[in-house]
Amino acid sequence: MPTPKIAPSMLSSDFANLASEAQRMISFGADWLHMDIMDGYVSDMAKALLFHFVPNLTIGAPVIESLRKHTKAYLDCHLMVTNPLDYVEVFGKAGASGFTFHVEVSKDNWQELVKQIKSKGMRPGVALKPGTPIEEVYPLLEGENPVEMVLVMTVEPGFGGQKFMPDMMNKVRTLREKYPKLDIEVDGGLGPSTIEIAAAAGANCIVAGSSVFGAAEPGEVISLLRKSVNE
Ligand code: DX5
Ligand code: ZN
Repeated sequence: MPTPKIAPSMLSSDFANLASEAQRMISFGADWLHMDIMDGYVSDMAKALLFHFVPNLTIGAPVIESLRKHTKAYLDCHLMVTNPLDYVEVFGKAGASGFTFHVEVSKDNWQELVKQIKSKGMRPGVALKPGTPIEEVYPLLEGENPVEMVLVMTVEPGFGGQKFMPDMMNKVRTLREKYPKLDIEVDGGLGPSTIEIAAAAGANCIVAGSSVFGAAEPGEVISLLRKSVNE
């Protein structure tokens, strides 16, 4: 199993105090900071035409750039946007560390995306929504320019605080059997009550928003998550 990475999702932090929230998570032992970038649709038409990827609007590259001035931490950027290629350059300049795009909107240009992401010094990852079969990411893991992480969504992308979908663990298990050394990230509804099943399935990168930020002792939750993945 590759090294565990515990990545608090800053979506559940106090955005008005992002720098201190980030520093607090690192001081509690977090490995990465998970940054959720969303492009926000409101109307059904925008959704149908795929102008936007998720029904929520969060942060963009300017916020990553500001945060970068306050931390050296690995910024694990999860781009829930329809046109990820448009954002590679600005996120690279802003100081993003990982750039994870969605397979559902990158079938035609993932090779170009991976190339660009690497050329800007970031680590490429691919994410998939609950309804997307795992087979769709296989091509991105082969060839000379593969992605370096797969993010398996365990809730519908868009919001923190949703219920973990245990059925997604089949994807994680299948992926782990096929790629023993791959970074496999799970995102959505992870916390003390769901970590065991995710760790047993083979996930090593754990995103946790509400369970960490909502805890009286976030450091204890981070330690518990790490211990479960280590076992
Ligand atoms: C949802 C985001 C997640 C979210 C996780 O679209 O990708 O990163 O912040 O939050 P929790 O851990 O509260 O489900
Ligand atoms: Zn995320």
